[in-house]
Amino acid sequence: MNKKLIIGNWKMNPNTLREAEHLFKEFKKITTSSKNINTILCVPYVFLFPLKKLKITTKFSLGAQDVFFEQNGSFTGEVSPSMIYEAGARYTIVGHSERRYKVANENDEDVNKKIKILLKNKIIPIVCIGEKVRDQKHTYFEFVKNQIKLALRDIPKTAFKNIVIAYEPLWAIGKEALRDATPVEVNEMAIFIRKCISDLSSSKIGLDVSILYGGSVSPSNINDLVEYGGVDGFLVGRASLSVKDFTKIINISDKK
Ligand code: PGA
Repeated sequence: MNKKLIIGNWKMNPNTLREAEHLFKEFKKITTSSKNINTILCVPYVFLFPLKKLKITTKFSLGAQDVFFEQNGSFTGEVSPSMIYEAGARYTIVGHSERRYKVANENDEDVNKKIKILLKNKIIPIVCIGEKVRDQKHTYFEFVKNQIKLALRDIPKTAFKNIVIAYEPLWAIGKEALRDATPVEVNEMAIFIRKCISDLSSSKIGLDVSILYGGSVSPSNINDLVEYGGVDGFLVGRASLSVKDFTKIINISDKK
């Protein structure tokens, strides 16, 4: 059995390096004593280097929350894949809905370029996809399929095993979430995503690709999501900033 991936997306938090180090140490402890979990903390760029000094491992490592799609050059304010790799990032979130629709207008083409350059730099992209709304006509399936197709355009099928897909429906993310996604909805979409990936590659690759769910994952819904969600792990926002909550999420995921 593959290990489950539990990814913390700290977003623009916490305020100080001291707090970041405290969270890192606590989560490293709990992950090290788990059997079936690999944890990745996706932290703000400035915390990567100092946290890397506290030692990352395969089981407990770091990720960035974004990257630029060029190797270097005149791109004021941007950060390259080799820089984040050196700073400790072994994974990087790309195409998070907050970057697509809230802070950066990122589009599918940008996401595709970022995945390509990350793969070249031996960093695993965590590709976020997900619909804005759930309509009666189920057009969200088509929407998600299209996002996958554009994100993976011209990427060799053999590289799919080095990509993680995170299904994050916008209506279930963050403080403004309308409601939690049900485990049945998560499971249904995970199967659909596997089918999309199979169609682009082979059924073996579709079965093997890591699919995560993200959106208001918390100690109160993690049991059912692990049991019935049919995913390989979780992308956790708010709850990854609480020692108590994230520890519970790791422990419950480890036992199931
Ligand atoms: P949330 O965020 O867990 O706070 O809903 C998830 C995410 O945006 O990745």
